[in-house]
Amino acid sequence: MTKSSNAMWGGRFSAGPDAIMEAINASIGFDKRMAAQDIAGSRAHAAMLAAQGIINPKDAEAIGEGLLTVLSEIEAGTFPFRTDLEDIHMNVEARLTEIIGEPAGRLHTARSRNDQVAVDFRLWVRDQCDAADGALAALMAALLGQAEAGADWVMPGFTHLQVAQPVTWGHHMMAYVEMFARDRARFADARARMNLSPLGSAALAGTSFPIDRDATAAALGFDGPMHNSLDAVADRDFALEFLATSSICAMHLSRIAEELVIWSSAQFRFVKMSDKWSTGSSIMPQKRNPDAAELIRAKIGRIFGANVALMTVMKGLPLTYSKDMQEDKEQVFDAADHLMLALAAMTGMVGDMTANRDSLRAAAATGFSTATDLADWLVRELGLPFREAHHVTGTLVAKAEAANFDLPDLSLEVMQSVHEGIRQDVYDVLGVENSVASRVSYGGTAPAQVRAQVARWKEVLS
Ligand code: ARG
Repeated sequence: MTKSSNAMWGGRFSAGPDAIMEAINASIGFDKRMAAQDIAGSRAHAAMLAAQGIINPKDAEAIGEGLLTVLSEIEAGTFPFRTDLEDIHMNVEARLTEIIGEPAGRLHTARSRNDQVAVDFRLWVRDQCDAADGALAALMAALLGQAEAGADWVMPGFTHLQVAQPVTWGHHMMAYVEMFARDRARFADARARMNLSPLGSAALAGTSFPIDRDATAAALGFDGPMHNSLDAVADRDFALEFLATSSICAMHLSRIAEELVIWSSAQFRFVKMSDKWSTGSSIMPQKRNPDAAELIRAKIGRIFGANVALMTVMKGLPLTYSKDMQEDKEQVFDAADHLMLALAAMTGMVGDMTANRDSLRAAAATGFSTATDLADWLVRELGLPFREAHHVTGTLVAKAEAANFDLPDLSLEVMQSVHEGIRQDVYDVLGVENSVASRVSYGGTAPAQVRAQVARWKEVLS
């Protein structure tokens, strides 16, 4: 079945689209999320057209006012969205026509939906960069709180998920602060690069009307206009940078989520999730499940997926605009929604969780975690080459393991049977507290270093 031809381009058409054509073509179902950006862009455009004498000031005023009425209808949920009007741009313009009549027809002078959608989407993604920045700052603050409280709580540091050397809880929390700080910097960097306006590029070639692109750029908070009209309507790098940055951030979130899943297990007992962030089991009364951490771990899938999907949409597209590019929005919307949710959930979980200091301490003392300290002592105190010290230590670890002892439990006699120079004061470096306190190199795990980093980041965040 066909409908009457389209009011926006009906001049060339005698029949409307097939229903399936309408279904595949329409984006209003999702691009209505850019309504506020679309209206901001149109208001800036109309004001500029009047300032340049391209339309008369009375019409521009009617357009500006009418657009505000449209915005209030959308905000109130009373706006009559129409699929036959395809997208947010044509829905807004059609409604504007109903409200103000003839002057509405002058709004699209010196403009195309190609530069219109490019500007709307840029504004939307720019807002998301700002939202991500705020959410990351909150997460960093929650991690800093944990780090400050437990700057000297000893826990095992792992490589290969095997106990490696003792570290501090604060040090481990601060590792994530560093990661999320890089994510923030990436969002800021992407934002700065995307902050040029495509508006005024029109369909692809620019326009013969004497427009002022600097004025519309400034009105919309851009640093200036994009420099090539073909690039301006064909570019979706800003969306891809947002997705790539979101992917890295989500990957970081999945790593801490995974640690929280492991750490909250009965086998580890490193952390207790608060009731607010745990779920029970409908059949096993003893269970406290870290569902939020698991879901964050899983959400990276859709965020990576969005990144790959949009890269694939854009790959091989000839310049300039192609309708393929309409597929950009749902990917970005979905990725942004789930990234924000994951950041908020992680911030809540980290802020409310309780580290189990005793379990951390006990685990730190397992797995011969101070073997490196023993080897270092042999080098420092006895002048052994490191490779020999490594060998001596390895022999002692084997002896301890065979006797089911930890290193500090080996008697001096046994130690001296392996290397006669070993003295009583070796035990000073075998305790986990001594071990962490000794790692005073810049960025090391010594509580003094951790406290210095906490102080530095607090300063940066304030
Ligand atoms: N809904 C379209 C999109 O999201 C708007 C641009 C349409 N442009 C065009 N030449 N058909 O990409």
